[in-house]
Amino acid sequence: MPTYIITGGSKGLGAALTQQLLQQGAAVHCISRSESETLRQEALRAEGELTFHAYDLAQTQGLDSLMERILGSIDEADTITLINNAGQLEPMTSIGRAGHDDLQRSLQINLVAPALLTNSFIRHTQALPIVKRVVHISSGAGKKPYPGWGAYCTAKAGLDMLTRCIGVEQENQPYPVEVFSIAPGVVDTDMQREIRAASKEDFPQVSRFVELQKNGDLQSPEATAKQLLNLLQANAFAQGEIADLRTKKPES
Ligand SMILES: NC(=O)c1ccc[n+]([C@@H]2O[C@H](COP(=O)([O-])OP(=O)(O)OC[C@H]3O[C@@H](n4cnc5c(N)ncnc54)[C@H](OP(=O)(O)O)[C@@H]3O)[C@@H](O)[C@H]2O)c1
Repeated sequence: MPTYIITGGSKGLGAALTQQLLQQGAAVHCISRSESETLRQEALRAEGELTFHAYDLAQTQGLDSLMERILGSIDEADTITLINNAGQLEPMTSIGRAGHDDLQRSLQINLVAPALLTNSFIRHTQALPIVKRVVHISSGAGKKPYPGWGAYCTAKAGLDMLTRCIGVEQENQPYPVEVFSIAPGVVDTDMQREIRAASKEDFPQVSRFVELQKNGDLQSPEATAKQLLNLLQANAFAQGEIADLRTKKPES
């Protein structure tokens, strides 16, 4: 049974990915603070299996044992995929104005937690002769600086470099773990609502995101999840690739 471990599966893009994977008959382990009742109901109807792990990713010291527990519970899997999807934009303000604790929490959730989960995942699965993949849900903000998004941009840039480093490290492994960073585009989720609610002082480009929504330029989480899973399952990504769903073609 294809098995997926998804952080932030309770809402937005992560919930859409989880729902579609359950419909495909996959086993999905979701890690988030809250559980989605909709997904719990979906799992009763669908062929797949859903296991929910209540966890705050800012608590980084427990992540190794969480990953060990999850991997230890997997009976038979022909593929295991970790999707580091959970993320937060806060603190949305310029560096110098952010609270220390908020800045630290943001980096823990957006960068440290995915790095630690990936480290545990590779350690525990390296010797397995099956398909193993790590997908980092990144952002165009990892390449382009946005004033007010210093913490978020830094974390996404870090995830992209982590992807590239693991990509070259895994090249000579007998059973490599594949790793990709994927920017999903502008997706109609709570995160976009938070962006539109920001003050111009904290996030000077807020009006651009208000316009994107007004003009109907946001993609639905369902369409984004479908595109991502189609590409992933068609092996469309190269080892260590930093991809953007807005420009990615199935054959490239
Ligand atoms: N939406 C966009 O336009 C956009 C654009 C580029 C990149 N992205 C990226 O896409 C990914 C998904 O974003 P989204 O738009 O779907 O966001 P979202 O709707 O705000 O959902 C965020 C998810 O992350 C989980 N999460 C947040 N903090 C957590 C914590 N401390 N511990 C555990 N789970 C936590 C949330 O679950 P709980 O609240 O239940 O914990 C939720 O399931 C993120 O990495 C984001 O950076 C989004």
